[in-house]
Amino acid sequence: MSYHTLTAEEAAALIRHGENIGLSGFTAAGVPKAVTRALAAKAEAEHAAGRPFKINLFTGASTSASTDGALAKAHAIAHRTPYQSSADLRKTINSEDTQYYDQHLSHAAQNMRYGSIPKVRTAIIEAADITEDGEITLTTAGGNSPTYCKLAERIIIEWNSYHPKELKEMHDIYMPLDPPHRQPIPLLAPDHRIGGHTLRIDPAKVAGIVHTHEPDGIGAFKPGDPVTDKIGENVVSFLEGELEAGRLPASFLPIQSGVGNIANAVLAALGRSRTIPPFKMYTEVIQDSVISLMESGRCTMVGGCSLTVSDDMLRKIYANLDFFKTRVILRPQEVSNNPEIIRRLGLICINTAIEVDLFGQVNSTHFYGRQMMNGIGGSGDFARNGWLTIFTCPSIAKGGAISSIVPMASHHDHTEHDVDIVVTEQGVADLRGKCPRERAEELITRCAHPEYRRLLRDYVALTPGFHTPHCLAKAFEMHTKFLTTGDMRNADFSSGV
Ligand code: COA
Repeated sequence: MSYHTLTAEEAAALIRHGENIGLSGFTAAGVPKAVTRALAAKAEAEHAAGRPFKINLFTGASTSASTDGALAKAHAIAHRTPYQSSADLRKTINSEDTQYYDQHLSHAAQNMRYGSIPKVRTAIIEAADITEDGEITLTTAGGNSPTYCKLAERIIIEWNSYHPKELKEMHDIYMPLDPPHRQPIPLLAPDHRIGGHTLRIDPAKVAGIVHTHEPDGIGAFKPGDPVTDKIGENVVSFLEGELEAGRLPASFLPIQSGVGNIANAVLAALGRSRTIPPFKMYTEVIQDSVISLMESGRCTMVGGCSLTVSDDMLRKIYANLDFFKTRVILRPQEVSNNPEIIRRLGLICINTAIEVDLFGQVNSTHFYGRQMMNGIGGSGDFARNGWLTIFTCPSIAKGGAISSIVPMASHHDHTEHDVDIVVTEQGVADLRGKCPRERAEELITRCAHPEYRRLLRDYVALTPGFHTPHCLAKAFEMHTKFLTTGDMRNADFSSGV
């Protein structure tokens, strides 16, 4: 079967107001670029003509400036799930211009197949190749493409010649059956391959091919600073201690690492450790620092959902594809983030918190309980199911006006039952086997910034004689004082019931 060639504008013209659109990719990696930009332009033209135009957007995770950014600026996203990290989209979410549904990333595809969220009508998929009989080579991410292609009535392909066709050897595409027919996912080690290299679709669904040649446009991370570097060192010295105490196997366990500057600093510190042996990674996002660890031999292989690397790093990978295609496995997020596999492999899961309360509840998503930052992403998939669950964050934000250790988290993403270890630049709090009062003391002593320790102890002292020393009247005193006076240090815990 031969496919129609379309311009991005012709492809965008097919999409109607109110349509449910599913995109390939995960982070900026592997996300369609040209059709989404054209859709944003179409939305602006429709709005200028006085007509409504908004779509409902379903993705793998966050996207890029030419997708979430451009569409949010055009006020063209009505509903959005499962994750985002765009400053422009954050604005439309927090002003209720966009209705955002924050889901665990491993759940998004099955929730759509089960019918609890609407099905996509159109899938827009970035491909490195497509055959006449409908075998797609995905580009730099697994994402939710298998489910979106299965459920969509039509598929628009962005055939991006920037990516080599040989990329297919990195992909391992497997889609679980739905209950009551689901079987165990037969992945027993991080380097097992259980699926196919390509995504098979019905070629009759292909509405057309848009030809592009464009990198993912991912910039390099900022170099570490003293705070992130210290957090990285604290995580690694804790893991070295666990190894020495025999609580981790001598061969070590696979690492899952979140994204961002703290994650980069942790990975860099793992690279420098002389105690921790070379390790494997079973993770969600593969970022630049992972590739550097592979080049140095510290990380022997990585399985993840996306190759979210800077354009320079991707060029390096493509120039040395024979080395990397045997050491990098790209999976759909339903597999990379699957709780069954995470529990089975015994992962060391390291993610970043916005705030942690005195009893170990973690907020990864909201400011002051009401303002969305990004979303839970895969942190919950990994946190609940890891061998060891570690959350990292700086002890203070906004120059000290905010403490990351608070009496009660203003939003709960991960409960005390899912959090083993908290690490700030101040130190490491080990919450395992501790009751709430012991946890509070551990977090205050080891993780809170010295300027907040007395205040936090005053809070705990308000309610003697209870299992969990909370004082509901004062639980958000620090947050409230930040909102009203600009500084949590103005909190008053001199009395409370
Ligand atoms: N209250 C208010 N603001 C706070 C804060 C708090 N308790 N803690 C931090 N901030 C602010 C910082 O000051 C900073 O704002 P600024 O840029 O205006 O100074 C901002 O929050 C943090 O931004 P950023 O540097 O982008 O944070 P990060 O890269 O360290 O990311 C998370 C931290 C939590 C936002 C991010 O890791 C995330 O979205 N996590 C959830 C998803 C996830 O874990 N994914 C990986 C799973 S595999």
